[in-house]
This record gives sequence, structure tokens and C-alpha cells, in this order.
Amino acid sequence: METGKPIIIGCDHAAYELKEKIKAYLIDKGYQVEDAGTESEESVNYVDFGKKVADAVSKGKYSKGILLCGTGLGMSMVANRFSNVRAALCSDLFAAKMSRLHNDSNILVLGGRVLGDILAFEIIQTWLDTGFEGGRHLERIQTIDN
Ligand code: RB5
Repeated sequence: METGKPIIIGCDHAAYELKEKIKAYLIDKGYQVEDAGTESEESVNYVDFGKKVADAVSKGKYSKGILLCGTGLGMSMVANRFSNVRAALCSDLFAAKMSRLHNDSNILVLGGRVLGDILAFEIIQTWLDTGFEGGRHLERIQTIDN
């Protein structure tokens, strides 16, 4: 992915620390990052932040987003209710790569209580560096919202 396009990122309290580290990682790599919060470890409802990021991606304001909560499960459930959103909860590099190649995932979901920093960075980099294969996979994803 070209680094000029901003990526929107959001999290809840359980993944605040990892979100801050990911932000720093992305900025260091030259990406523009739009931070949708949360801004501390004070307890919040992950749904509010998941909706903010998913809505922005759904409406095409951002082509890619990253969401984090403790497990990544709640954020996935929220994000995948939005049309045009294909959110992929990934804990390994193969899933991150395939979610781009075959599913054209536009939101990457990570579990802040699941992943270490370095693995999270590698998953993100793989996800950003992998393009969509298109072809028969395009025909398939086009039927998701219909
Ligand atoms: C917060 O305790 C936790 O429930 C949340 O981060 C997330 O894992 C929900 O799916």
C-alpha cells in the first residue's frame, strides 16, 4: 500500500497500549494515521470506537482501517455489520495475507490481549503490503452485501 493514504485506527481500553505502539510504528514507516480513539486505559465500550472506524471505511472516507480490542472479537462483530466493510481478525501472517489476497479485507482487527507487539507489527505490514487478487475473488466478495 502506498504510504500517502491515511489509515484510520481505533481501539478500546484493553488495546490502548498496543494502539499507541502501532500508531508510532506506522508513522515511522511513513503512513498517515487518523486516530479515532480511545485515548486512555479508562474503560470504554468498544462498540463506539468500532462503529466510528467501520462507518468511515464503509462510506469510503478511508480505504483501510485497523481496529483493536482485547480479543479482537467484539470489534470484528461490530465492523462486519457495516456494508462495504470486510473486517478480518488476524493472529497470524497467513490469515493477514489471505484476507487481502482473497477477501480484499479493508479493516484489520487485532487482539491487544492476544498479540505481542512485534507479531502485531508483522501482521500489519503483511496486510498493508499484500494486494487483492481480484478475478473470481472479486465476483465472490461482490455478493457479500447482496
Ligand atoms: C474489554 O474488557 C473486552 O471485552 C474487549 O476489549 C473486547 O475483547 C471485546 O470483544
